[in-house]
Amino acid sequence: MSVDKLWGRKDAQRLFPEDFLWGGAVAANQLEGAYLEDGKGLSVADVLPDGVFGRIADPPEGEYLKHQAIDFYHRYEEDIALFAEMGFRTLRTSIAWSRIFPNGDETVPNEAGLAFYDRVFDELLKHNIQPLITLSHYEMPLGLVREHGGWSNRETIAHFERFARVVFERYADKVKYWLTFNEINIILHAPFIGGGIYPEKATEQVLYQAIHHQFVASALAVKACHELIPDSKIGCMIAGGPLYPLTPKPEDVLEAMRKERENFFFSDVQVRGAYPRYKLRYFEKANIQLDIAEDDLEILKHTVDFVSFSYYMSYCATVDTELIEQSRGNIMSEVKNPFLPVSEWNWTIDPQGLRYILNQLYDRYGVPLFIVENGLGALDQPDEHGYVNDDYRIDYMKDHLLEAAKAIDEGVELLGYTSWGCIDIVSNSSGEIRKRYGFIYVDRHDDLTGDFKRTKKKSFDWYKQVIATNGDYLQT
Ligand code: BG6
Repeated sequence: MSVDKLWGRKDAQRLFPEDFLWGGAVAANQLEGAYLEDGKGLSVADVLPDGVFGRIADPPEGEYLKHQAIDFYHRYEEDIALFAEMGFRTLRTSIAWSRIFPNGDETVPNEAGLAFYDRVFDELLKHNIQPLITLSHYEMPLGLVREHGGWSNRETIAHFERFARVVFERYADKVKYWLTFNEINIILHAPFIGGGIYPEKATEQVLYQAIHHQFVASALAVKACHELIPDSKIGCMIAGGPLYPLTPKPEDVLEAMRKERENFFFSDVQVRGAYPRYKLRYFEKANIQLDIAEDDLEILKHTVDFVSFSYYMSYCATVDTELIEQSRGNIMSEVKNPFLPVSEWNWTIDPQGLRYILNQLYDRYGVPLFIVENGLGALDQPDEHGYVNDDYRIDYMKDHLLEAAKAIDEGVELLGYTSWGCIDIVSNSSGEIRKRYGFIYVDRHDDLTGDFKRTKKKSFDWYKQVIATNGDYLQT
């Protein structure tokens, strides 16, 4: 058989395959607003006025930015029309769990919540935009946290499975792409949003037990999805970011491998359907005792169809304790890469890191990949007409997409690319809106002022051309 036949991609002279899913990504809690409307209950996202690493203010003391967010709940038609104008083939968003089960532990779903997503998905499909839906994007019902201990409690698995089955059944004809947990590995760094676990209770023992429950819940969702929507695909989702050794010292190389496994552990279980030996050994040495029910290991064998990930930056690892000390306070406490620039929020900018991790993940798993988040959070300054000339965002995306194209050329199977925050939304880490990612500017500000008006930025027309030419425009 000829190599061409084995390779199998007919349009290999093009940067991206013909059916590449171009689009944008958002999450319910960061754009919908209407945080208590039509029966919705509070979620973990509703009690974090200063973002993920700030205080937990529960019950809410007044209004937080996310409560109204950008009011997508009432403006989704206008927003979806703008996405359609850019030519989106997909939109990644999430279903706010607490719209469907306000406290999390009910047995009957909230019809008004289900009806809202019917309207959103119908509107997307009307414009030929495929919904790509995350079941759990940092928005667990607060009731499950307050009364049940979040994911540390095994019962949460049953509540989640019920939620997943309800939405699979309801949207079987409308949604064919699903993700289980957003950035499932982030629970180790942000236990409250990742696992509904209060920081003071987040010992390693508690966290890994909660993670085990999430793995089982994710596998049960995969099983249900395959049963209820046989023509769908369901993936896992990790926060991706290669870890480079800071120096060629073997100690730094091994440290990079160790840290990288902290992330890959999550996809290893969800793709391979079993705990990796390096982690079992770690549990043993750290005296972490997992409570694993009899069927759990069988359930884990329901593995995902593809691997999706967010990519914003790469990291460096070293055993140099002095450098580690200096970098404390960064999201994952890795040291700065001296060869790379950073964003206004100090996030390393590394387009080649995207090519690197795409190859790494594909080599490791051999299943299709999906870049479901990538983008530049920046301080946009509208001119006197409200127009934002965001060449910096265009440069960032162009550089990243060209590196993704190189990875495809190197053999990686990539299903699509959804840029993060395709319309300005509230930041997850800082709770601000001045950290903007969108192609569409929203007149909404950190002091809760603004009239919510939507205005296209320069990047809007740029991305439209990229999609219209299936990526060829990146070469101009
Ligand atoms: C990812 C999350 O971590 O990064 C998103 O899945 C988040 O929810 C995105 O918004 C960008 O981070 P931030 O903190 O700039 O909003």
